[in-house]
Formats: sequence, C-alpha cells, structure tokens
Amino acid sequence: MSSRRAVKRIAVVGAGPGGLYLAISLKLRDPSLDVVVHERNRPDDTFGWGVVFSDQTLANLKASDPETAATIEAAFVHWDDIDVHIHDQTVRSGGHGFAGIGRQRLLTILQDRARSLGVDLRFQSEVADVRALDADLIIAADGLNSRVRNETPEVFGVDVDVRPNKYIWLGTTQAFDAFTFAFVQTPHGWIWAHAYQFEPGASTFIVECSEATWRGLGFDGMDQDQTCRAAEALFAGWLGGHALMSNARHLRGSAWLNFSRVACANWRDGKVVLLGDAAHTAHFSIGSGTKLAFEDAIRLAQALTEPGDLEAGLAAYEAERRVEVLKLQSAARNSTEWFETVERYVDLDPLQFAYSLLTRSQRVSHENLRLRDPAFVTRVERWFADQAGAPLTDDPPAPMFAPLRLRGLTLPNRVVVSPMCMYSAEDGTVNDFHLVHLGGRALGGAGLVFTEMTDVSADARITPGCAGMYRPEHREAWRRIVDFVHAQGSRIAIQLAHAGRKGSVERPWGPRADQPLADGWPLIAASAIPWSDEDQTPREMTRADMDRVRDDFVRAAGWADEAGFDMVELHCAHGYLLSSFLTPVSNHRRDAYGGSLENRLRFPLEVFAALRAVWPDDKPMSVRLSATDWVDDGLTSEDSVAIARTFADAGCDLIDVSAGQTSEQARPVYGRMYQTPFSDRIRNEAGVATMAVGNIYETDHVNSILAAGRADLCALARPHLADPNWTLRAAAELGWRGIQPPLQYRAGFAQLVRNMERQSQAGPV
Ligand SMILES: Cc1cc2nc3c(=O)[nH]c(=O)nc-3n(C[C@H](O)[C@H](O)[C@H](O)COP(=O)(O)O)c2cc1C
Repeated sequence: MSSRRAVKRIAVVGAGPGGLYLAISLKLRDPSLDVVVHERNRPDDTFGWGVVFSDQTLANLKASDPETAATIEAAFVHWDDIDVHIHDQTVRSGGHGFAGIGRQRLLTILQDRARSLGVDLRFQSEVADVRALDADLIIAADGLNSRVRNETPEVFGVDVDVRPNKYIWLGTTQAFDAFTFAFVQTPHGWIWAHAYQFEPGASTFIVECSEATWRGLGFDGMDQDQTCRAAEALFAGWLGGHALMSNARHLRGSAWLNFSRVACANWRDGKVVLLGDAAHTAHFSIGSGTKLAFEDAIRLAQALTEPGDLEAGLAAYEAERRVEVLKLQSAARNSTEWFETVERYVDLDPLQFAYSLLTRSQRVSHENLRLRDPAFVTRVERWFADQAGAPLTDDPPAPMFAPLRLRGLTLPNRVVVSPMCMYSAEDGTVNDFHLVHLGGRALGGAGLVFTEMTDVSADARITPGCAGMYRPEHREAWRRIVDFVHAQGSRIAIQLAHAGRKGSVERPWGPRADQPLADGWPLIAASAIPWSDEDQTPREMTRADMDRVRDDFVRAAGWADEAGFDMVELHCAHGYLLSSFLTPVSNHRRDAYGGSLENRLRFPLEVFAALRAVWPDDKPMSVRLSATDWVDDGLTSEDSVAIARTFADAGCDLIDVSAGQTSEQARPVYGRMYQTPFSDRIRNEAGVATMAVGNIYETDHVNSILAAGRADLCALARPHLADPNWTLRAAAELGWRGIQPPLQYRAGFAQLVRNMERQSQAGPV
C-alpha cells in the first residue's frame, strides 16, 4: 500500500459530521473511489441538539464544497451577540459572528449530499470486526467513545482526561436572540447555562455545575424528567415559560456527563486512521469539535487523493492536523478550566466577569474584542479607568495606562520593568551602568522600575557582580539612580534578597559561567542540599543565622527608604534563600521551620514582618513567589494561594507571581503568558493584588490580562532588554497621548505616533 492509487475502497466507521464530510470530500475529489460509511445507529438517531459554527468554519467548508456549504448556510440561525447574565445584570457584547444549526438537520444535509455523490451509507450496520472490513483503508470516525480506537488503546497511545464538572445537553423551544450564558447562585454553589438557538424556535441549553453543586441540588438522584423540571425552576428567568427537554429517547439513565478530553499519541494503526472526536476532543464551551472533525476530513481527503506516496500523505495529514488540534485543545483547556473555577470570578464586577469569560480561552484578546465590538471595549476601558481612579475623559486609557494605587504610592501606568540581575556591580556598589540601564527604562515610560535582586550582605550575593545594599555607600549609589528615575515621572522598587544555596558562583558569562567561585564564601540555606552536583553544599541555617539574615534585611530596608525607594520587594522566589524555606524541594528541616507549609513559611514571614515594621506605613511592599516548583511533590499553585494570603494578612500589598527555578528537575510548561494563570488564581482566590510576569510581550497581552482581572500589574523582563522604550512604543501603537514622554524626547514620540497611525490606516502589507 505505498501509492495513493492503491487505495480504491475506503470504509468509514461512523456517520457523524466528520465521517460524512470525509466521504463527501473523497467522492468530490475522486468519484471512482468506493466509499462505504457504516453507522450503528439509524439516520435520524442523533445525539445532542444543535451545533455552533463560526464564520471561519463556514469559510473552510465553502472552499472545500460550495454546494454543501450553501445548503448548510441556508439552514443557519445567525447571531452576533453574546449575553452574560450574572447578579441580575446582563452584559451584552457583539460582533461574535456565530451560526447555529440543528445537528439532525446538518446530518440530513450531509447524508443527502453523500448519497447524491454515490457514497454507500449503511445505517444500523454494527461492524463486529473493523479490521476485517473489506477495504484498503478504514477511517475511524466513530466519535468520542470510538470503539475502533478503544480496541487497541495502547497502539494509539490514548490519553483520556475526565474533567470534574457535570453537564447535560438539554433543548428548549425558547428562542434566544444571543448566545446566552446565565449564571445562577444556589445555596449549593453556582450553576449556569450555555444556550443558543440552532433553528427558529429551538435552542440548545447546556447546564453545567461542579459535582458538589450537582449533588447538593439533588441532581444525582433525579431522572431526566425531574432534571428538566428542576433546571426549569433554576433558569425560569431565561426560559420565558418554555420547557426544557432531554434527549431521553437516546440516552438511558442519567444524561449528565463529565467532559472527557481525548488525545492520542498516534492517529494511525496499519489500515486504520482516526478522525475527529475519535482522535481528539475539545470542550463544548469553545464549540469546536465539529469544526475540527470537518477540517480533519478535508485534510484527510486531500491526503488520500493527491498523487504520491500514501505513507507520506497520511503522515502529513497527522502532522498538520496535530498542530491545529493542539492549539485548539490548549484554548479549550483554558476554557474548560475557567468554567471549572468559575466561583473564583463571580465576585468580579459583572462587566469584568463578562470580559473574563469572553477572553477565557486566551485566543480572544483585547484587540480581537475591539475589532468585534469597539463600544464594548470602550465600556470596559472606561470602567477600568474609573475604578483605577483615572481622570474621566471621553477617551479612556487602555488598561495598561490606568494608574494603580498601592498605599500612598500611585503608579502612573501598569507596565513594570521586572527585576533583572545585571552582574555589573563592584562589591555590591551599583554604578553608571545601572544608572543608564534603569534610568533608560524609566525614560522609556514604564510606570514602575524594579532594581535587580539586591543582596543584603556580601555573602548573600549570587556572583561578585551582584548589586547590594549592605554598606552605607550602597545607599548613596542607589540614591542617585532613584532620584533620576523619579525625575522621569516613574517609580522605583528595590528587590531585596539573599541567594542562599544558589550563591558564590561566577557571573553567567565567560569561560567559567555559573561555576562555583574558586575563592567564594560559605553558603547557608534552609537545608544542607546543594543546588546541583557541582555546587557547594550549604550549611543548614541555625537560629543565630536566621537572626543575622533577618537583621541584614531590616538594615537594607532602612537604607532603601533613606535612598528614596517607593516600594520594597522581598524575594521569596527562584530557589534563593527564602524560597528554599518555602518549597519542600529544598526544605527538609525537622524543626519548627520545616515540614508543614505553616512551618516552612515561618522564617520568610518573620523576615517580612520585620521589614514591614521598619518600612514606612504609606509605602507598599511586595513579595515575589515561585507559584509552583513544576516538579512532582513540589510546591503547588494551591499552596501558593495559601502563602499569598498569609503574606497579605501580614501587610503585603502585591504578590509578584513568578514560577519555578527552585529545582534542577523542574519541567516548566512554557508559552505566551505562561505564568499568568498562577497570578489569576492568587489574585482571585487570595484576594490580593498581583503582578503577572513571564512571556508577556505584546501590548495586547498586557491589556487583556489587566482588563480580565488576571493581574493588577504586568512585569516585562526580556522585552525591556530589547527595547527600553517598550511602554512609549505601546502608547504610540494604541494612539494614547495621555502618556508624558520625557520633554527631551517628545518630538520622537510624536513622530512614532504619526507613523504608527499611518501604518494602521494603510492596513497590513
Ligand atoms: C537577565 C535576567 C536577569 C534576571 N534577574 C532576576 C532577578 O534579579 N530577580 C528576579 O526575581 N527575577 C529575575 N529574572 C527573571 C525576570 O524578572 C522574569 O521573571 C523572567 O525573565 C520572565 O519574564 P520575561 O518573559 O518578561 O523575560 C531575570 C531574568 C533575566 C532575563
């Protein structure tokens, strides 16, 4: 079976949208193919009510088969709006461009088209042994619970992730004029509906809640009729007297489900190829299962009908589709998790709650929303600016240009230069390099500039080039920089730290980069565990060591205040001394400072409290955390919520949410804004202001994160190394003239704004 020409007879198992569309696409491309579709159910035996299509999916179908696309389009109910109902308020946003169609209607259209092209459709055809089918190739399009796939799960490398929420597909004759999300609070927790019209006067009505709420409301003991009546009572406000109906004819017993995310390492086993839900599923909340199945079908039909090598064609089908599927599954995972943790967001203002819902998958951003519904985004921006205390104008600033108040400090905008070691100090003393480096970023418009990790004693440094605050001359050297930053209208925070077991190494460049110093200093840490095999083994800290280190921090904070710093951050992240106490990875102590989370927090908290006692009341303090260790049995994001809450109770105003760098075994999952979910969780569960950091590099990232309430500030590290003027550039890009560029630079800023305006008017090249 090496040439595609050898494939003449194709058996498709499953007559869902994916299987039928494959059969149609194959016959359109090569009418001589013998295509048989086997379906165990009857032609009108469908599950579920309606299917959602985006305009984009329809465009793909049009390109592949204009005739079928036209018939489908004629049967569509279109809508543009999404309504979010919560706390007796409705937030409407428009421009979303979706269409609904009854699943049965869609299948009938596809069945008719397939028949007219000569596809052999065999319903109620139970295939006992798929591999024995008389065909050159067998396509398993038999859905989420694919029997074909489940016969040899080990060959396909099947991974099924069963999610915790309960949901049920119901239908109603109520005609919703917008995609409707309705959230209802009950004594047992929140329950919500996802509802949309798919035919005039017929809507899908999916009800979802946590398992605890489901049990609390007694759904576990109800039959389908009782479920419908109970759901009608809960959602009476939206049903206008219309009943809810279940698909009871087809589904026996409880129709409540848990969503299963299916992923397969291989989509191919000899003659058998997986397609659609059999290979991968995407949560119903992003409505993409049918879209993925259609796209698989189009691509597979191409692979099977173009001349050339069959193996190569099938490999290309899988490789190409896998990338698209992964992207969608990642968006779907975000969306699934948003609904699983919805109680985290219900106390947000309804407008922000709706924004958070609309951007939950991270595929829709601030600027995407602006394209869809500019008035909605302006409304969000006005609300955001208003609650931030920005002066009210007709033209509200984008969220990144709204001020933030923390105690007596007001930051002019929400862009922060993240702490970055420069390894360029002499015995801890910062110099012209630091003045130009930090001063340059202040000139570039960032609202808050962080110093690099600044160490509280000579033996608290990572390298001999690290900055310090342990000699009086350090205070004077810093004062010069602080004054310069202030003169540019920016604010400056100092990150105070002790390197712990990661100290006494060479700078990260040169022939001995990061290697232990030949003439270094002895290390201390929570436990006597070296960072790596090459590194020095630290001494486990005694109580006397703790006293000294705490006092070093206190002295440094006093000098930082005298130098004029606006904020102090206690560095409890990245495996340095205080972080080494927090994480079980490096804290194996058996005394009151090890073991339980409460014990591991004891010393970092003691240092924090000592700083808070000397740091002026009207100046804020922050703590940087590694919100996860990214290792099994390490610190989890749940722990970090508890840690953040404890620091907040002790007077911390902002949690700077980083992750990892606490163990060499860490396996981080990188991606755009990859640490922001931790910030989201900490902010909205612990109820403390947060700063997100990590691969945030576009203006759109910053605005989306802030507007959705996933953080209060965004810190950018590497982007600021490439572009000190990142914030000015962002202002020009957004056409925001409310920023005050340095007087000396105004001509350049004005030109940049003009050029960017011209570019955006000209459109993409
Ligand atoms: C050169 C460099 C030095 C860094 N030094 C520090 C530091 O001193 N303290 C700290 O907490 N994080 C430090 N980081 C981490 C950054 O603050 C930031 O968390 C990380 O780079 C992710 O953000 P990004 O994707 O915007 O670069 C450093 C990062 C870089 C690139």
